[in-house]
Amino acid sequence: MTNDDPVAISRGFLEPQMTQISQMKKHARHPIRFICVICGFLAVISVHPARAGSVKIELPPETAALKKAPGAELVTAQCIVCHSVDYISTQPRLPRAYWQGAVTKMQQKFGAPIAAGDVDAIVDYLAKNYGAEPAPAAK
Ligand code: HEC
Repeated sequence: MTNDDPVAISRGFLEPQMTQISQMKKHARHPIRFICVICGFLAVISVHPARAGSVKIELPPETAALKKAPGAELVTAQCIVCHSVDYISTQPRLPRAYWQGAVTKMQQKFGAPIAAGDVDAIVDYLAKNYGAEPAPAAK
């Protein structure tokens, strides 16, 4: 090949462009792959800033805890599964029959997984600490 060979010169000159064109054609032939590459790139740049300034969510502390008394742990464990203990502590002082009914309702209508053997202890605690009868002296 000599420098004055016009074909060789034009080939050398054109080849880089030809390569680009054939690259573009390749993408054109695989539009899905091309779109995937673009989407992947967008995904990377869109996720990145979110990571950099990671969002911190602080939940407010649980405001209510049941009164400390025998049975409090059992009741908390059984009753906090679906809702906060506010549901208990914000009720008006109601008679034992109400609490009996509430526990049975939670168990039978709402599906609370309360063992039959725990019902009495739970009702006792609720009636004593959140019932209509005078509350026991604070410990
Ligand atoms: C399986 C889920 C579940 C569990 C466990 C559960 N509850 Fe409930 N509780 C509910 C639902 C549902 C409601 C109705 C919520 C509403 O109306 O917004 C409710 C409401 C209440 C209320 C409000 C009055 C009423 O009757 O609607 C009280 C009081 C209550 N629950 C007490 C308890 C006690 C005490 C326990 C533990 C022995 C308990 N819950 C456990 C699901 C549950």
